[in-house]
Amino acid sequence: MESERIALKARNVSFSWEDTPLHWVPGDPFTTHTINVLHLLLPAGERWFVHVYEQALPLIEDDRLREDVIGFIGQEAMHSQSHDEVLPHLREQGLDPTPYTAQVDWFFEKLLGDRTLPPGRARRWWLLERVALIAAIEHYTAFLGDWVLGAAELDRRGADPTMLDLLRWHGAEEVEHRSVAFDLFTHLDGSYRRRARTWASAFSALLFLWQRGVRFFMANDPTLTGAKASFKDFYDRGRAGVLPGTGAMLRSIPRYLGRDYHPSHEFSTAQAVAYLSASPAALAARRAERSPKGAA
Ligand SMILES: [Fe+2]
Ligand SMILES: [Fe+2]
Repeated sequence: MESERIALKARNVSFSWEDTPLHWVPGDPFTTHTINVLHLLLPAGERWFVHVYEQALPLIEDDRLREDVIGFIGQEAMHSQSHDEVLPHLREQGLDPTPYTAQVDWFFEKLLGDRTLPPGRARRWWLLERVALIAAIEHYTAFLGDWVLGAAELDRRGADPTMLDLLRWHGAEEVEHRSVAFDLFTHLDGSYRRRARTWASAFSALLFLWQRGVRFFMANDPTLTGAKASFKDFYDRGRAGVLPGTGAMLRSIPRYLGRDYHPSHEFSTAQAVAYLSASPAALAARRAERSPKGAA
């Protein structure tokens, strides 16, 4: 258990994609595309986090939590933008994700959008539902972040260093801010029934969107013909260490549903901060901050 508190701030990173191959895990389109689904879900998903949290900010009655939420908003906005910037590169390589991202945009902007609700109970209920959904999703972003920080098999197989840096910079910030969404949910509501219900919705939606995204990429990859994606492919890659293990994912479910769950009980802030102090993109961002404008 870790109790240290660090002030959250967005790191102003940038990545250049021109040298990243289409199959950036060499010879393994399935792993590449399973991870690529993040670039489809996160731009709209994290923009939605920011949108919801901006509505929650005025309800926060704790200065420290408000500061954390503001730091979280800054980090998620940067994540969303950084994954979005991979999409033109995919298009240049003949893989246009627009048909899929249009569905994801609809999902977050319309289905999970503001709806026309009168101010009062209904509007607050819908805001609390979404705050709880974000807490459930953040359980998984921290899980994935912790996984990718330790996924040495990807390095061994020669995965593209820029993509790994994007994933690990993002993953490290997810671990760093892993308690914020849960703390906000607890502060505004914290009902166990809502936590369990929204976990079930978030988990099913993530599974649904993810498997559709992988199928979309495999079907539209210009270098593949008749490629299929199956659960067995996922399970095998998990065992090989290039994707998260199915067992580890299943074991994370009762943890989130435990009565005494708190994100600080799992994962290591020290490991995350250590990566952030060595990440090429985060280092470049720090250098740019230090040097006068235009000199970076
Ligand atoms: Fe994020
Ligand atoms: Fe996050």
